[in-house]
Amino acid sequence: MAADPRTSRLRKREPLSLELIPENLLREPIEYIFADHYRLRQVVAAMDRLLIEGLFVSPLAEDNGSDVAVVRTYLVDELPIHIADEEEDLFPCLEQRCPGDGETGQILATLRQEHVEDFALLPPVTAGLDNLLAGGAVREGELFEASAARFVETQRRHIIWENNIVLPLARRYFTVDDMANMGHNMAARRNIEYPA
Ligand SMILES: [Fe+2]
Ligand SMILES: [Fe+2]
Repeated sequence: MAADPRTSRLRKREPLSLELIPENLLREPIEYIFADHYRLRQVVAAMDRLLIEGLFVSPLAEDNGSDVAVVRTYLVDELPIHIADEEEDLFPCLEQRCPGDGETGQILATLRQEHVEDFALLPPVTAGLDNLLAGGAVREGELFEASAARFVETQRRHIIWENNIVLPLARRYFTVDDMANMGHNMAARRNIEYPA
């Protein structure tokens, strides 16, 4: 009997695909970071789904392979650059524009600590993803699952703090020159020309 097309449509899940951020958004670097947070949230949601469905440790079913590849590419190639945008440009500039603001200082200290933790969690996560993408099972399954779950949990809160506290302060206090400096540095970090 032929499958009911309505049911199969419901079951079909769109593969994870991250939209490229237009280069001219580098002229508005805070919005560039905001757009990157949207993409990171998509990555985190995909990791969460794979964890919940228990698909993350055994060899990959075919329809999860492309999602896992997209997650791996983001974590390895893009997240370190995003964190550098924040650590080297966004946070120091905010400290310069809001001197003596203890509450902001505390928040930035927490976010920096979480970046350190991200870099500790990433190696076991990416090693496990590499095992899966090579067609096998994750070698250190327990460490992998615990690290991926911790990453998912911390990223969600981390992004909320950055979007709701840090980026609004930057929009309010950064000067035109701050934005241009930051945009140029972000372009250089990505080996692209600052948009004319
Ligand atoms: Fe961050
Ligand atoms: Fe961020």
